[in-house]
Amino acid sequence: ALLFVNTSQGRHIPETLFGIFFEEINHAGAGGLWAELVSNRGFEAGGQNTPSYIDPWSTIGNESFVTVSTDLSSCFERNKVALRMEVLCDSQGSNTCPMGGVGVYNPGFWGMNINKGKKYKVVFYVRSSGPIDLTVSLTNSNGLLTLATAEVIASASDVSNWTKVETVFEAKGSSPNARLQLTTSRKGVIWFDQVSAMPLDTYKGHGFRNELFQMIADIKPRFLRFPGGCFVEGERLRNAFRWKASIGPWEERPGHFGDVWMYWTDDGLGYFEFLQLAEDLGTLPIWVFNNGISHTDEVVTSQILPFVQEALDGIEFARGDPNSTWGSVRAAMGHPEPFDLRYVAIGNEDCGKRNYQGNYLKFYDAIKRAYPDIGIISNCDGSSSPLNHPADFYDYHTYTSASSLFSLAHKFDQTSRKGPKAFVSEYAVTGKDAGTGSLLAALAEAGFLIGLEKNSDIVEMASYAPLFVNTNDRRWNPDAIVFDSSRAYGTPSYWVQTYFKETSGATLLNATLQSNYSSSIIASAIAWKNSEDEKEYIKIKVVNFGSSAVTLKISVDGLDKSIALSGKTKIVLTSDNVMDENSFKEPTKVNPKPDLLEDVDKEMEVNLSPHSFTSFDLLK
Ligand code: AHR
Repeated sequence: ALLFVNTSQGRHIPETLFGIFFEEINHAGAGGLWAELVSNRGFEAGGQNTPSYIDPWSTIGNESFVTVSTDLSSCFERNKVALRMEVLCDSQGSNTCPMGGVGVYNPGFWGMNINKGKKYKVVFYVRSSGPIDLTVSLTNSNGLLTLATAEVIASASDVSNWTKVETVFEAKGSSPNARLQLTTSRKGVIWFDQVSAMPLDTYKGHGFRNELFQMIADIKPRFLRFPGGCFVEGERLRNAFRWKASIGPWEERPGHFGDVWMYWTDDGLGYFEFLQLAEDLGTLPIWVFNNGISHTDEVVTSQILPFVQEALDGIEFARGDPNSTWGSVRAAMGHPEPFDLRYVAIGNEDCGKRNYQGNYLKFYDAIKRAYPDIGIISNCDGSSSPLNHPADFYDYHTYTSASSLFSLAHKFDQTSRKGPKAFVSEYAVTGKDAGTGSLLAALAEAGFLIGLEKNSDIVEMASYAPLFVNTNDRRWNPDAIVFDSSRAYGTPSYWVQTYFKETSGATLLNATLQSNYSSSIIASAIAWKNSEDEKEYIKIKVVNFGSSAVTLKISVDGLDKSIALSGKTKIVLTSDNVMDENSFKEPTKVNPKPDLLEDVDKEMEVNLSPHSFTSFDLLK
């Protein structure tokens, strides 16, 4: 096979081509990127009927010593449920409390990760009928080993009304399966609400779990689409993500049950935190909002105006002046500077729904009138025929087999060059080709992304989906990053994305492939400038999707000097078996590995392993 690269001809690739899509799915946020350790911190997950279940909270001590229930006595208006704990035993007397006391514990999201020497901030609200003598502790999974502990002693008058207790403690031991305990050996009735435990060590103190943040930062995403997906729509509208319920002091957020992915979230990772996440990643936020349509119910267009106002208010919250109605709420949350919100998507996957077009136009007109510069994304696919409504971009989603995704590299070759541009906001290989993150899937995705690079005159943005999975709650498979309370690894699909981190804003070079294997090989070449060393590089990427090794002759034209080896010159993603995967045991079994590249020049012959993705990094 022959690859001709002409460095004298090129086209600018959009600055935003490759980004990420974060959805609250698979406990990606709650119990994932959002570092809150307590699950169901406000006891709201069981609903407003009392008594309600308080899962995953459990009682320490049997019912002759303690009874636990809920009532609606919280001091927080939007989340009235509080925990009521009646302690029947005492430190002495006929009903003496068992050793260690009685109380409640929270195991977090399948165990809390506590590390020796690290600090944790525990906050809770308490009220009591008498004096309190509480032990707050982080322990191992069965409560027998204490990792950190603090005493909270208060007189009856101090806690007769709801009182906030805040304590920071340093762990004296480690466990990836720890739990938070609130215990006492003093008789009386105590109410608890809004119990939070956060590691102090989060990204910039902004609440993002460091190593998960780092994994997404490492792929240098140019945009962050959030917060879903189906999560935005809801199975029923009443359970959709609504931004206004997710802002303000965390204690006052009602939380909600995401009825598509079937779990409760306290909404600690709310609209503000998503915007903060985008800013911290140095990327552009793309807000997907609910357009009055869920999976099963819809607001008719004649009644959609309140939803339109909600979207306008959300934009004002993000980028309005700190003196504006909603900009001031953002400022009060500690961010007087506007966030750089330039794009919004009107709904998710709703194009075919009865009220979509009607609702869409109401949103579109109102947003364009108030914010003419905002890029608006339609759910209707304009890749094969023109849209019948105005839009700046259209969503394109694809989940399919490996061979069909590899062929979809040419999906946009025939698309009209006029009209709104494509936002491939969700793509992935799914089904049996994918395993739980196979090399095969990743290679098909690499081919697809090369196709998008080549069509980046009309494809403006693209993101893999889903980004994260907590291995304890795999609602969607496969995913790019797999984690539990303390560990994380990238699937081969994640590693493929690292090959494209230089692409956005680079120059697409003319690269022509001549080959008998053209149905199984695809290649592209870009020129990009490294801001760290100010040098210009050429990156040639080739996917060999077939099962035979291929010798590829690369001819680089248009350079007046010899090209040179750069640091790691040839990087290969491959493995012995095309269905190989990474795992907690072997997290880097299938990841990019540097390989020797001899004979670097304007003309060179390279060997492409079967089922491989290779990049050649040359210094211009
Ligand atoms: O990425 C998982 C889901 O797939 C998204 O929530 C939805 O948009 C799509 O159907």
